[in-house]
Amino acid sequence: MSKADNSAVSFCTLPFTHLNTNATGDVRVCCYVERPIGNFHDSDFDSIWHSEFASELRESIFDQTFRFCNKEFCSIAAKGDPNALEDAASKQEIESLRDRYSGRPRPELLSLQHDDSCNLSCPQCRSGLIYADAERQQTLKDIQDEWLKSPIFRSAQRILLSGNGDPFASRVYSDFLHKIKKADFPDLEITILTNGLLLNQARWDSLANAHYAIRHILISVDAASAETYSKVRRGGDFAKLIENLEFVSQLRKSQAIESFAIKFVTSAENFMEMPDFVRLAKRLGCDRVKFQLIVRFNHLSVAEYSAVAIQHPKHPRHSELLAVLKDPILQDDIVKLVNFHSVGEENFSFVEDYEAVMASNNIEVADVDKKENAIDRILYRFLGLVRRVGRRLPTAVKTPLKQVFKRVLTAA
Ligand SMILES: C[S@@+](CC[C@H](N)C(=O)[O-])C[C@H]1O[C@@H](n2cnc3c(N)ncnc32)[C@H](O)[C@@H]1O
Ligand code: SF4
Repeated sequence: MSKADNSAVSFCTLPFTHLNTNATGDVRVCCYVERPIGNFHDSDFDSIWHSEFASELRESIFDQTFRFCNKEFCSIAAKGDPNALEDAASKQEIESLRDRYSGRPRPELLSLQHDDSCNLSCPQCRSGLIYADAERQQTLKDIQDEWLKSPIFRSAQRILLSGNGDPFASRVYSDFLHKIKKADFPDLEITILTNGLLLNQARWDSLANAHYAIRHILISVDAASAETYSKVRRGGDFAKLIENLEFVSQLRKSQAIESFAIKFVTSAENFMEMPDFVRLAKRLGCDRVKFQLIVRFNHLSVAEYSAVAIQHPKHPRHSELLAVLKDPILQDDIVKLVNFHSVGEENFSFVEDYEAVMASNNIEVADVDKKENAIDRILYRFLGLVRRVGRRLPTAVKTPLKQVFKRVLTAA
């Protein structure tokens, strides 16, 4: 939910619902908030979720300044305007959002990206192969074992594995998947985001314990031909990938999973294959085919990025992209163009809505609300009220009260 129709209020649910982990141990609510809300090597998730900076960040959404968010990248933050709150209706809307979202004891979505180990070294993602050494793997596995017992993990409704590294190349993530049990995580839904090269029948069978939770499989392909695949997915094998895509397609047809999608990070290297990619998705019976524009990851210099960023009006082949986008097959219902909204417009600016990017990874933020039960809703409202009253209390009273609440919430 970014903005209600006809409303001057801009709102992002991620700081109230979502956590992501990264390879340095930093924990963020969104990739477009540079400053982490904590680090899992220093504190437990519960303290991180309730950290001082996490509260400040959430407040910056309510006061419409979005002052910690990257406005160059995020369209929701870019629309934030504190002046909107001078209007009584906007103020009221914020108060109702505050009732609904503040004081949530835990996140509903966890996006795990703490191990960057991968069998590929796609040039848009990294400059060379990365594998965690045995010591780092052990440290991460030990930390994960603690997470698996923690209330935050036990109450998560959705987990995305993985936004960094590959779920099947990483021994850390594989260990995690092998430890998911229905008795401990009865309502959990896992979305697997993978390059797919290691996801064959044998690998799937070895994860029988987690089949009940793995509801969505999303495979990053980025090409419709072996030639392009070898350029954009360095180290990959197109023939093997196609075999595995056929396997996942069978899983979907037999309803072992709820959705199967393939994904394409669009750049100057591959945009001509967009129509063929949709044909491939249709042949495989995919529920969705997702196109996302390339963004500049840190290892890419400005010059390297400019050479592939076909979305920029100054790219020499930009007009060819606009022509490809008019292909009727790209209007098919299964196609989702994630962050293409201002491509081809006069005032093109590359901002994306991170919630939409999450949705492209099958993390439909809005769905989470549907899952809230009545008791949670009452609890959230009660906590919102407590926080508002609490803020007015003197520190000498507030601090011990906070401790008591934290203990109660951790135990709950
Ligand atoms: C980093 S990968 C990790 C999961 C898995 N290894 C995979 O490739 O799907 C997560 C997603 O980021 C995408 N990605 C990689 N580099 C990107 C870039 N420069 N811009 C946008 N997306 C990128 C990948 O295509 C993939 O869909
Ligand atoms: S497969 Fe995924 S994590 Fe691995 S290098 Fe490619 S994009 Fe990055």
